[in-house]
Amino acid sequence: MEHIPVLLKEAIEGLNISEGDRILDATFGGGGHSALICEAVGKNGKLIAFDQDEAAMSRAKIRFKDFDKCKFDLINANFRDLDEVFRGRGVKKIDGALFDLGLSSFQLDESGRGFTFQKDEPLKMTFHNSDDNGKLTAEEILNRWDEESLADIIYGYGGEQFSRRIALGIVVARSKKSIKTTFELVKIIEDSVPNFYKSKKLHCATKTFQAIRMVVNDELEALRVALRDVWPMLNSGARIVVISFHELEDRIVKLFFRERKFDGSAQVITKKPIIPSKSETFLNPRSRSAKLRIAQKI
Ligand SMILES: C[S@@+](CC[C@H](N)C(=O)[O-])C[C@H]1O[C@@H](n2cnc3c(N)ncnc32)[C@H](O)[C@@H]1O
Repeated sequence: MEHIPVLLKEAIEGLNISEGDRILDATFGGGGHSALICEAVGKNGKLIAFDQDEAAMSRAKIRFKDFDKCKFDLINANFRDLDEVFRGRGVKKIDGALFDLGLSSFQLDESGRGFTFQKDEPLKMTFHNSDDNGKLTAEEILNRWDEESLADIIYGYGGEQFSRRIALGIVVARSKKSIKTTFELVKIIEDSVPNFYKSKKLHCATKTFQAIRMVVNDELEALRVALRDVWPMLNSGARIVVISFHELEDRIVKLFFRERKFDGSAQVITKKPIIPSKSETFLNPRSRSAKLRIAQKI
């Protein structure tokens, strides 16, 4: 399925782009935001786009093959390494940055890496296609971590009220046979939670899957590092726009902006986060938990 960009107009307006600007899109995904950033910066400006997913970057290169609206640099890297990547390319300053966190529809629908509980796939949940050697995977967490650590992450990152029961279910199941696929995990979760919980609108595996994915990819730390490192690179007047889909991500952004406000280096543009309209969530249910925050470097 095509990825529908979330809060597209709000994000682009929030960046307050001028012709000739150099803008970072830290999460290229399907390139929905990047395409509009390119149009706004024009031929004298530049888009620098990151995505840690090789497949997303391959698609990006195809999508932008004949794109001549701006200069662009598409980089297959984790945004937590942006300091090093920028140094390597001689980029010192930028005029704005966008972070549209989480997953794209492609990753849910087509990655084959176990991001979704709707398909039976190996439990990887990593963003690397080719080489997972030595990298933490969902399978390793599920088969090796102790019960308490499992319960802690499922509760801490997923906010899952039945985290302890699910953790126990995982430990019991793996004592018989290693857990290898998403459907095996879904079955364990279904067998662990009470019946009423299975008839809720939100699938009973949603929070556990989200929690494990966030741990596999160390997503909260990557965000903290990237915000810290991108801030000194922003020119004065440059905006940073972050769209998050998880309460803990939003809290990191809110606190980071607040600290910059108190140290006198930022003006916070969004007193409260911008959320999608009813019509956007109707047309694109995946947008429903999005929150957008904007700060401007002074
Ligand atoms: C929600 S999608 C972005 C969608 C995009 N704005 C669009 O309109 O098509 C998030 C993308 O960010 C990428 N991503 C998530 N965390 C990342 C990280 N730490 N570094 C680089 N890319 C990341 C994912 O691989 C995914 O493709």
